[in-house]
Amino acid sequence: MASLKEILTTVGTIFEQESFLSEPKELYEPIEYTLRLGGKRIRPSLVIAANQMFGGSDEEVHNAAIGIEVFHNFTLLHDDLMDKSPLRRGKETVYRKWNENTAILSGDTMFALAWRYYLKQPHPQLQEILNCFNETAIGVCEGQQYDMNFESCNDITINDYMEMIRLKTAVLLAGALKIGALYAQAPKEDVERLYNFGIHFGLAFQLQDDLLDAYGDVAVFGKQTGQDIRDNKKTYLPLRAMELASQTDKEELKKLFTNFDGDAEEKVSRVLAIYSHINIQEEVEKAIEKEMNMAISELNAIKIDEERKQPLRELLNTMQGRQS
Ligand code: IPE
Ligand code: IPE
Ligand code: MG
Ligand code: MG
Ligand code: MG
Repeated sequence: MASLKEILTTVGTIFEQESFLSEPKELYEPIEYTLRLGGKRIRPSLVIAANQMFGGSDEEVHNAAIGIEVFHNFTLLHDDLMDKSPLRRGKETVYRKWNENTAILSGDTMFALAWRYYLKQPHPQLQEILNCFNETAIGVCEGQQYDMNFESCNDITINDYMEMIRLKTAVLLAGALKIGALYAQAPKEDVERLYNFGIHFGLAFQLQDDLLDAYGDVAVFGKQTGQDIRDNKKTYLPLRAMELASQTDKEELKKLFTNFDGDAEEKVSRVLAIYSHINIQEEVEKAIEKEMNMAISELNAIKIDEERKQPLRELLNTMQGRQS
């Protein structure tokens, strides 16, 4: 049994040994650039952790681990273009460093490359694995569309938001776990529990991302803060603020998120001022804790040795209060 630290080292080595360079270089260099920047590499770690939990071997999920991370990085190339984000992992985003067409085409290629990694590895349940991978991808796109739709909607509820983040973020983390478990041919009900664990973990993960978007330290977070406010994203923060703020603050917040055409930086600071009146950080932290606890209950219910659950418990702990 490998510890979380060992799993992360394995993932690091896998990516060190993999090159994404090919011809034409204009297509592949942005791919290499993005994947070399690293990031936390949570999704491939989840594939490996779930797989070893049910007695699999690193070799059999090697390609699946690369494939899931390549897919994730593809979503980032397109997401940064859609969100107009200048910074990712502390460096310029692909559409800024190169151009928009590059982000689109290199991104598309990464989606196909992800499939190539899956198809490399024969497995008796490959069809089910690929089905999970593909349904996950469709879910992410649906979530991304809701996220965009919500930018110009003013009647979004917290339930709508939770469903949107389930799709854009949680299904990929849950899918990574399910894929790892399927390679190890884990019992069906355990696969389902693990998937649900991933969903709750994923919801907590996105809530934390939304919190960091407002309050993160750019040098650590690696992304520009305040971007969700500039984009009118209906994250948990403005939605909960609309429930808790005073009448005057509510009216101002509504204006800031609809027809504010003044200076973007002024908008960010005015929104943050309203958030501070109601201590929004604490509100988001409560929501995160709720999802974390639900994730833990799902993990507790899986009937295998406690020792085998350790890496996932460690991962939950390291993600709690993460800053990047
Ligand atoms: C960013 O994912 C997109 C979200 C779902 C919030 P990560 O926070 O896992 O990004 P990296 O891969 O570590 O950079
Ligand atoms: C993450 O949403 C979802 C996907 C990338 C699919 P965000 O737009 O919040 O992610 P970041 O903050 O740009 O990483
Ligand atoms: Mg984004
Ligand atoms: Mg986005
Ligand atoms: Mg974000």
